Amino acid sequence: MDMKNDKPLVIIAHPLPEEWLEGIRTMCELVIGPEEATSFPKRLYERLDQADGLLTLLIDRIDEAFLARAPHLRVVSNMAVGVDNIDLQACTRRGIPVGNTPGVLTDATADLTMALLLAAARRLPEAAADAREGRWHKWEPAGWLGADLQGATLGIVGMGKIGGAVARRAAGFGVRILYADPGERLDLEAETHAARVNLDELLHNADFVTLHVPLEPATRHLIDRQALRQMKPSAVLVNASRGPVVDMQALHQALTEGWIASAALDVTDPEPLPPDHPLYGLPNCLILPHIGSATQGTRRLMAEMACQNLQAGLGGQRLPYCANPSVYG
Ligand code: GLV
Repeated sequence: MDMKNDKPLVIIAHPLPEEWLEGIRTMCELVIGPEEATSFPKRLYERLDQADGLLTLLIDRIDEAFLARAPHLRVVSNMAVGVDNIDLQACTRRGIPVGNTPGVLTDATADLTMALLLAAARRLPEAAADAREGRWHKWEPAGWLGADLQGATLGIVGMGKIGGAVARRAAGFGVRILYADPGERLDLEAETHAARVNLDELLHNADFVTLHVPLEPATRHLIDRQALRQMKPSAVLVNASRGPVVDMQALHQALTEGWIASAALDVTDPEPLPPDHPLYGLPNCLILPHIGSATQGTRRLMAEMACQNLQAGLGGQRLPYCANPSVYG
């Protein structure tokens, strides 16, 4: 007997809290991947030939070979603002709209950027480790000295939504703001006195450099040996964008040889960064496990947006948040 369900088949590559899926549960047949998978689960490949929709995370690589297994796919909904894990052109060629989750994670990611910046500026990881491990002997007049934000220069590379939210926060700390971006942000220039410069000028002058560009061929290793060489020896590098924007080997050399003072990374290359990676051994490098958007409220909103995109795609409507609008011609 043919038991085919007439509801669309949606593959959720990784488990999400049940209540986040309320929006789509009743309208779809859901196939949900196993908890332990760290990329698109191999065991779900056999369902791809029936799949109408896909909810992916940034750890799932969706390329031409993957799409060839999914001939009925009508929508890919990525629960992230970044879509570098997805071959957008391949999706567009096949007429598949790709959804993402812009906007809702801007504040959470900008908050985490400030946390990284302040932690690195004031050497929190080193100071906390010293306190915990018995090296706090007295109030040290010249101990654990960090850098002031007031009066310092912050360089923001990529003045999109997140870069802009960082600029607004940082203005309250009394920093002078430079930014490098192909477009001008006149609204922010008025509000935060940010000045647009080229990347070289930014790297030369900034005491803090923070990265907020998407990962694209042009931004892969944007911060390479040559870029790090241009920074001040006292500079702090913050990355809450995508790991491969920084050449990690060059960064290790820069931190061990004193080309820059410290780094604070929410993203690495690869991810996860293996526990024996040499960067973990450096006291001047703070590494977090990609938690920029990890607040209760933000992750829930991201899931809601991802479900809205799925619903629209399955219903043949334009995705409310679409990363490849050219798919609509
Ligand atoms: C997180 O990194 C995202 O792109 O949403």
